[in-house]
Amino acid sequence: MIKPIGGFSKLSKAEKIDWVVSNYTSNPKESKKILETYWNSGIKLQQLHDEFIENTLTNLYMPLGIAPNFLINGKLYAVPMAIEESSVVAAASKAAKFWLKKGGFKAQVQGTEKVGQVHFIFKGDYEKLKQFFELVKPKLFEATASLTESMNKRGGGISKVELRNKTKELPDYYQLYCTFETKDAMGANFINSCLEQFATTLKMEALQYIPFSEKEKEIEVVMSILSNYVPNCTVRAEVSCPVEELEISSKISPALFAEKMVRAVDIAKKEPYRAVTHNKGIMNGIDAVVLATGNDFRAIEAGVHAYASKDGNYTSLTHAEVKNGIFKFWIEVPLALGTVGGLTKLHPLVKLNLEILQNPSAPELMQIMAVAGLAQNFAALSSLVTTGIQKGHMKMHLMNILNQQEATEEEKILAVEHFKNNTVSHRTVEDLLTSLRNR
Ligand code: MEV
Repeated sequence: MIKPIGGFSKLSKAEKIDWVVSNYTSNPKESKKILETYWNSGIKLQQLHDEFIENTLTNLYMPLGIAPNFLINGKLYAVPMAIEESSVVAAASKAAKFWLKKGGFKAQVQGTEKVGQVHFIFKGDYEKLKQFFELVKPKLFEATASLTESMNKRGGGISKVELRNKTKELPDYYQLYCTFETKDAMGANFINSCLEQFATTLKMEALQYIPFSEKEKEIEVVMSILSNYVPNCTVRAEVSCPVEELEISSKISPALFAEKMVRAVDIAKKEPYRAVTHNKGIMNGIDAVVLATGNDFRAIEAGVHAYASKDGNYTSLTHAEVKNGIFKFWIEVPLALGTVGGLTKLHPLVKLNLEILQNPSAPELMQIMAVAGLAQNFAALSSLVTTGIQKGHMKMHLMNILNQQEATEEEKILAVEHFKNNTVSHRTVEDLLTSLRNR
């Protein structure tokens, strides 16, 4: 029986590995070897990774690919994408190339406002709380002056602090609802530091506010934290062309293709089961760039899906229409990103990926990511409404199946050739390998 362990974080890396493999794996020697295989041979680089988190054993690799030919607002980008799903980079590249010949993508940032809240309980008279808040508001800004100084110099800072009465939702519940501009930083640390200072000042000032009763003086701060819901930190990206230029394949007319694309988006707008998958495809593109640029994919995911249901129903993040003979396809997404701070300077690959993207500002990166999401959705829908997704997907998945079957290099070459004109499935790959091996 495995016993709980105390002081695990204090053990050396080797001791941690020994403990895990001997308690939880069937072949400790082999398991240890696997963990060590993924260590970086550069000791300093490995140490850097070890120190990102606690209890690091090794690194989990993810392929980093590049999708070239993304023309965005007249500038040509090669977009780094970190993702394990076989067809994503290929699909992005295909969509980028398709739109390159039609003027590329247009993207525009609609807002960069971030949000944070101090959630607190006040048991007393709301009118008195309002008066107190007006008095204390300048002190909130004064108390955070040292925290905001450098952000203010960069043109950012705290933009708004409001008192919100939430007692209809929950008894005695109020908020300081605050908005921030964090320029090229994602700003989580900046926002949370400001909020915690607001909370301290709020509590302290309340204790000394004479009009408050003893009970009213005891403001209870529940928590102070940024929100990953950022409906005013959004970006719009778009492609458009005359319908007759939508020559996606000789098997479907441009007009029919446009009609099917619009219908596919309409379905995702109305049907949540479809919308979730539709948006998942969009996130294939966005997340891959989020990861490659060292941004927080959990924050992005949470914010995007909340935004997709902002009107009460979960719906599509993309839109499509045909008007006056023009096909238009666009996306609106919230993306709270950073191109400075966090891992951006620390992780050598993240730094390099940002360089490949020409060291974008955060708003520029918002545009690139929205475009990656739009391109991915265009590619997925194009396949779905024409050949179906599996043909292309399985073609890309072929290498994984061949590797699972331990195919030799020669077998791989023959298989790639064979499946140019045949349907890929686990069975057909197995059959081919069997016939090759019995020659
Ligand atoms: C697969 O990762 C993504 C798709 O399911 C997206 C979609 O259905 O739109 C192909």
